Amino acid sequence: MGVSFEGTTFCIHTFGCQMNKHDSERVAGMLEGLGSLPVGTIEEADIVVFMTCCVREAADTRLYGQVASMKNIPVRDGSPYEKRYIAVGGCIGQRDGEKLVKQLPHLDVVFGTHNLASLPGLLASAIESAGHSVEVLEGGAEFSTALPADREHAWAAWLPITVGCNNFCSYCIVPYVRGREKSRPLEDIAEEARRYVEAGVKEITLLGQNVNSYGRDLYGEPRFDAVLDALDDAGIERLRFATSHPKDLTDGVIERFGTLRSLMPALHLPVQSGSDRVLKAMNRRYTRKHYLGLIEKLRAVVPDIALSTDIIVGFPGETEEDFMDTYRLVEEVGYSQVFTFIYSKREGTPAASMEDDTPREVIQERFDRLVDLVQRKAFEANQAELGAIVPVLIEGTSKRDEAVLAGKSPKNQTVHGPVPAGRTADELVGTIVPMRIDEARTWYLSGTVVDD
Ligand code: 5AD
Ligand code: SF4
Repeated sequence: MGVSFEGTTFCIHTFGCQMNKHDSERVAGMLEGLGSLPVGTIEEADIVVFMTCCVREAADTRLYGQVASMKNIPVRDGSPYEKRYIAVGGCIGQRDGEKLVKQLPHLDVVFGTHNLASLPGLLASAIESAGHSVEVLEGGAEFSTALPADREHAWAAWLPITVGCNNFCSYCIVPYVRGREKSRPLEDIAEEARRYVEAGVKEITLLGQNVNSYGRDLYGEPRFDAVLDALDDAGIERLRFATSHPKDLTDGVIERFGTLRSLMPALHLPVQSGSDRVLKAMNRRYTRKHYLGLIEKLRAVVPDIALSTDIIVGFPGETEEDFMDTYRLVEEVGYSQVFTFIYSKREGTPAASMEDDTPREVIQERFDRLVDLVQRKAFEANQAELGAIVPVLIEGTSKRDEAVLAGKSPKNQTVHGPVPAGRTADELVGTIVPMRIDEARTWYLSGTVVDD
């Protein structure tokens, strides 16, 4: 590569899931390693990277709009280049490849989800040739973990254990874009976890489209429970994972919530719908009863486990009765958090050709009703914490007030509280301190640091 990135600046815009956020940390790590400096805005950046998502239409259209609107932003003073270089990676890069540069001619580089490591070379050849560089690989996923990462927090790390998905839920584009599920060997995962622990990382979040089926491709059967054991053995303080398919959540994994010291009492278990008819049309391959059975088993192990979920409102053909099945399920489970989505038609998926005649306003009204319930339930779940003393991993200070600490409880609730007298926020960041919960709001708790 004859091009040097010394003295250049870059910024990354990330859309979508934690896997993309993690990939962005790797991209940042690579560019910094080559001498480019991270900056906060497009205006200050010589290189702009978009890490994109195509799970729903909104993120898809936004990318095209944002790239189009960048044409008129002048190059920063002091830039070594005559133009700003724009790269698009992530799921839209993977899905659209060459098509992107046809529609957005001022785009310089397109890369996919399997070839993050190619980005510097692609940028260099775009700079040298004053043309486009596009490289999208079909599968053959390399794990980006071999690349350096510029992690957002020194004390937290994401650790991908699988990429891709074999489930083909009928609404979802992910399996078409990210390809078949591929697992990383257990030894590689354990080795990376040990390195993080040695480096002082307190919390690891295991990542995959469906971590529960980890290992099926390598070992002939899922071995996610063995991954959890390996992480606990590595000595990590807090362990979390996302995301889980209910049909693959095993008794072995449920049991570990009770036996592994590090596994936090919080689980994201996307249900998508509470109606058996809709679940079938979604190709989710479990029933409402099975799902509720899992919740019962989890609560038998950890009675106050914090549960969160994803729900799609307005799937093709969803009736009021189907919706009410979902509504009642949310009421019954009492989630601490629910990510609610309005169904978005994705070309190429089976659901895109299903009859869909529910009026937009009806779907919006159902969505609003569900959001009201979700907020009420989240508030109730937080109220139950009043008076409790919880260990909080301090992440920094509140965005609105630097004298207020902000951190996460084991159940992943945000906890705020004043910096105690004689201490500074800086010295507490990345440490775990006990806090008594004095106040509960819908989306956060407030407390006071207490002596150990
Ligand atoms: N429309 C709306 N929501 C979707 N999701 C996935 N595909 C779609 C779609 N076509 C939601 C699911 C999934 C979450 C990450 O995004 O709820 O769990
Ligand atoms: Fe999409 Fe279903 Fe795979 Fe999740 S499990 S990524 S919703 S196909």
